[in-house]
This record gives sequence, C-alpha cells and structure tokens, in this order.
Amino acid sequence: MSTNLSNIEIKTISRDEMVNYLSNVSDPVNQIPGRITAFGGYVDGKLISVVCLYKGFWHTTEIRGLHVQKEYRKQGIGTQIVSHALKYVDTPVVMATVRSGNLPSERLFSKLGFIPCLDFINPNTGNEVTIWIRRR
Ligand SMILES: CC(C)(COP(=O)(O)OP(=O)(O)OC[C@H]1O[C@@H](n2cnc3c(N)ncnc32)[C@H](O)[C@@H]1OP(=O)(O)O)[C@@H](O)C(=O)NCCC(=O)NCCS
Repeated sequence: MSTNLSNIEIKTISRDEMVNYLSNVSDPVNQIPGRITAFGGYVDGKLISVVCLYKGFWHTTEIRGLHVQKEYRKQGIGTQIVSHALKYVDTPVVMATVRSGNLPSERLFSKLGFIPCLDFINPNTGNEVTIWIRRR
C-alpha cells in the first residue's frame, strides 16, 4: 500500500487509546507505565501508529511502545512519529530500549541521532536488548 505522508496526522492521544491500539496488534504489547504522554498517527481517521514518552527521572525520558501497522511500514511513519514525540521531551537525555537485531528500530534510532550504549539480557524474556541514547 502506498501512503502519501502528507495525509498523516500525528496528535496526542490518551493512555487508554494507546493501550487499546497495542492490545489489538499482533506484536507483543509492551508494559506501558501509568504516567505517559502518548502520540497517535492517523491516516484517513484510522490510528495506524503509536509511541509514548515516559519521564522516568528529571534527566531522562524513555521512548516506549513504538509501533506502526504492518501495511504502513517502510514509508517513514515510524521516523515521523518518533521525531514528533522528541519535540515534547523536556529532559536533557532521551533513551529507548531496542531488542538486538530489530533492524528497522535500530536504523530508525540511529538515523535520529541515538547511540547504542549498552547491551544486556532481559531477565524476563532472555532476549538481548540495547539501550539507545541521545541528547534532547
Ligand atoms: C520499528 C517500526 C516502528 C518502524 O516503523 P516504520 O514506519 O517502518 O519505520 P521507517 O519507515 O521510518 O523506517 C525506519 C528505518 O528502518 C528501515 N526499515 C524499515 N523496515 C525495515 C525492514 N523490514 N528491514 C530493514 N530495514 C527496515 C527503513 O528503511 C528506515 O531506514 P533508512 O531510513 O535508513 O532507510 C516498525 O517496524 C514496527 O512497528 N515494528 C514492530 C514493533 C517494534 O519493533 N517496535 C519498536 C520497539 S523498540
């Protein structure tokens, strides 16, 4: 499917809208903390992408729950919604945790100036993950 990127509207959504979206997609749902700022990407009024910001400390905001519906991927939407969310970060540092080998995410965060800083094993899943960090 080809999407005209100018048709995408990105706006703030509620936590419930984000959790509802994530619970309807096939990918595993991330744990979404209580206090977040969530964003949704809409095409023709349909929610096709989400991401949220979680301010964990005065110095660091975490990007969580990034997702683009399968048929809308590889068209720059993930990059666009994360770029939009970054405008709302008000801490000096912003980070994301990415499962090692998730090439689309690695390329997206790398392109936006994030640096892979640390690899470790998630004790709950056994998966290797990488912490990506950049300045605001
Ligand atoms: C990760 C995700 C959000 C990317 O969304 P997207 O809209 O496809 O991202 P973009 O179109 O902005 O592409 C970002 C980069 O990844 C690349 N990319 C996208 N899909 C790819 C694929 N399947 N294989 C290799 N590279 C890919 C793009 O080419 C682009 O890099 P480039 O600009 O250097 O060419 C999407 O794949 C997704 O929802 N995945 C499932 C959930 C997930 O993994 N979330 C992230 C958790 S950290």
